This record gives sequence, structure tokens and C-alpha cells, in this order.
Amino acid sequence: MSKITIAIDGFSSTGKSTIAKQLANKLHYVYVDSGSMYRAVTLYAMQLEYISKNYFLKEKLVEDLVNIELRFKYRDDLGYAEIYLNGVNVEKKIRTLEVSNFVSKIAEIPEVRRKLVEQQQEMGKDKGVVMDGRDIGTVVFPNAELKLFITASAEIRAKRRFDELIKRGDKVTFEAIYNNVVERDRIDSTREDSPLIKADDAIEIDNSNLSLEEQFEKIYAIVQSKLNAN
Ligand code: CDP
Repeated sequence: MSKITIAIDGFSSTGKSTIAKQLANKLHYVYVDSGSMYRAVTLYAMQLEYISKNYFLKEKLVEDLVNIELRFKYRDDLGYAEIYLNGVNVEKKIRTLEVSNFVSKIAEIPEVRRKLVEQQQEMGKDKGVVMDGRDIGTVVFPNAELKLFITASAEIRAKRRFDELIKRGDKVTFEAIYNNVVERDRIDSTREDSPLIKADDAIEIDNSNLSLEEQFEKIYAIVQSKLNAN
């Protein structure tokens, strides 16, 4: 059976990466979390002190982009790849609320997007890839055979992310997470370069009231019909 490209887009914390990982494992496809790349560039900007609560040295970051090398290394035990920033595994560090609070500012920068989109397209050039993000079906793989657009209410999304961060031991409040989710949605949807919008040919799925199993069943049925039609 010939391989297809699966693009999964949607608002923050909709569980895109959970679905994408499940599909990639089931189909033996490569999973790419494009958001982790924007998060890693954000972490770099924080480490080099190009961005803080009070200032943002955007031009400095743009000049320094050539020095950022991102790689994914697959981990058999986890069943997915972890991201490395200049040779260092940053998988855990990029998931903090602090990174989440800056990432949408970084992801607005056209030069950052150009660099990361190029790498994403290279990773998906042989198909057999499931990639999740904001602009995968619109910009990265406009010809993807299957495009999904995932939505859920802001309260439910914030609750899911809050539980995730509390579970790993981060000290965060629900209110701070909720505000971050809403603010990121706002910036991501209104930016000039590659805003978060549903591609015309994307299938929209609201998972507010779906369990993980129900969601997987529903989406896997869609995937199978695409594979059969292909
Ligand atoms: O927190 P969540 O898993 O929903 O987000 P993410 O997928 O890790 O993405 C973090 C941020 O990166 C988003 O809020 C966007 O600002 C940016 N992003 C983007 O602009 N384009 C993508 N293809 C993926 C992420």
C-alpha cells in the first residue's frame, strides 16, 4: 500500500500530538512534532537572553538562526523521537509554561518559519509521515492526502495541559495555563505569516467530548478510508 502524508493542525493543547503518535505507531510512519521545533528555538532565545518578560532582541535571534541545529532521535522505549538542540536533548525543557509564554512571539518571525518549514518539508519528502502543528496542511504539506483540524473548548484544553504539567511536577496554576492557551490561540490565528487556519480540505474534529479511545477509532477509520482510496 502506498504511503500518504497526514497533516494534523489545530489550536493549542488539543491533543494533536497524542493522536499523531498513535497513528504513526499504528501505521509505522514517522511522527514529527513541529511545535517542538518552535519551542526549541524559543528555548535557545531564552538561553542566549534574546527574549525575556521585558524585551525581545528579535534581530539578534534572526542573525543567530544559522547557529541553531535541530535534530530528532527516535527512542524505541518511548515509541517516538525526542528533540535535540545543538546536540542536547531538550525534550523536557521545552514543555515548561515559561517556554509556552514566549513561543508564539518566536513563531511569528518569518525567518524562523522559513528555516523550520524547510526542515519539516525535507523530513516529509518521502511521505509516510504524520506531522502536527498549526500550518502543516496549509503551508508545509498543502498536498497532504489527509488533513485533520482538531478543536476543543478552551476550558477543556487548559485542563488537559494543566493536568499534564502538574503530573510532571511543574508548579503552575490553572489560571496561568488557561491564559496561555487563549493568548497563544490569539497570536497564532492572527499572525501575518502562516496563521493558524483550517485548510479548505481539512476534516474538522471536535474532541471536547471524546475519550482517547473514541477519538482514535474515529480518526483511524478516516485514515483507513484514505489509504484504501489512495
Ligand atoms: O502546546 P501545544 O502542544 O498545543 O503547542 P505546540 O504544538 O507545542 O506548539 C507551540 C507553539 O509553536 C504554537 O503555539 C505556535 O505558536 C507554534 N507553532 C507554529 O507556529 N507552527 C507550527 N507548525 C507548530 C507550532
